[in-house]
Amino acid sequence: MGIFDLPICAIVTGANRGFGRELCFVISSELPANSTLVLLGRNRDALESEKKELASKTPSINILIFHNFECNRLDTQSLLQFFNDHDNLFKDLSSLLLVHNAGSVGDPSQSCVDLGLPQVTDYMNINFNSMVATNSIVLNKFASCKHKTVINLSSLLALQPSKSLSLYCSCKAARDMFFKILAIEQPLCRVLSYAPGPMETAMFNQIRNESFDDELKKMFQDMVPVNMTDSAKKLMALLKEDRFTSGDHVDYFDF
Ligand SMILES: NC(=O)c1ccc[n+]([C@@H]2O[C@H](COP(=O)([O-])OP(=O)(O)OC[C@H]3O[C@@H](n4cnc5c(N)ncnc54)[C@H](OP(=O)(O)O)[C@@H]3O)[C@@H](O)[C@H]2O)c1
Repeated sequence: MGIFDLPICAIVTGANRGFGRELCFVISSELPANSTLVLLGRNRDALESEKKELASKTPSINILIFHNFECNRLDTQSLLQFFNDHDNLFKDLSSLLLVHNAGSVGDPSQSCVDLGLPQVTDYMNINFNSMVATNSIVLNKFASCKHKTVINLSSLLALQPSKSLSLYCSCKAARDMFFKILAIEQPLCRVLSYAPGPMETAMFNQIRNESFDDELKKMFQDMVPVNMTDSAKKLMALLKEDRFTSGDHVDYFDF
């Protein structure tokens, strides 16, 4: 049975802009009627207008917004309450797709030795700690779901060091390892770390404009970015083919 053959609950973090937003449109086009798409973010206006646009394109699915998804200081109680409040929409669904997309790049003008405890703590809260907590809340909430798939938005930079991106690279590597362990602990859950390729988003522009490393800046200035829709569709193709080894890191350019 394919991932989108039966109604499913799909949850995307950082859904309001960049790749997360694009992914919501591509996922919604795959969802069978009576599925539920949950947008997690902290920009209420952007989420509301995205919901409107999604609803006009895919009226047969339910779309929910949680607009209190502030990763610096995640309110886990209100996130759990939100899922409990919508139990009626989830209780009959046998499949879950959770996409951990939200993320930040840190300050690329700083080198390893510029970093102090407040920056590291803040960065890890946004990109690791809140992600782990969200993952636990959702997987426990949907524990009885028969088919569960978890996607970690990873990067080539999880594997490859880059000057000026020490926290970004280190955190992406840590996330990849976390999801490898989730895959072995939860053999019934399909887990994938997907590196979407370089895409022209706010994050991409921040590296291109603000890195202290001129070589990296030049590399980003000369780079031909990947089209976001193409990358989102490649991820959908990977999920539908379902041939990846759970826990693996797969790159847009791998296939
Ligand atoms: N773009 C690339 O070239 C590229 C390449 C490889 C991997 N990726 C990965 O793809 C994912 C999406 O990146 P993107 O390029 O789409 O970046 P983006 O345009 O900068 O979007 C980042 C998303 O994360 C959310 N976010 C950031 N900080 C947050 C916080 N403190 N609390 C809650 N939400 C927060 C943003 O929400 P707000 O609008 O509220 O800030 C936004 O929705 C990331 O995990 C990134 O590492 C991107």
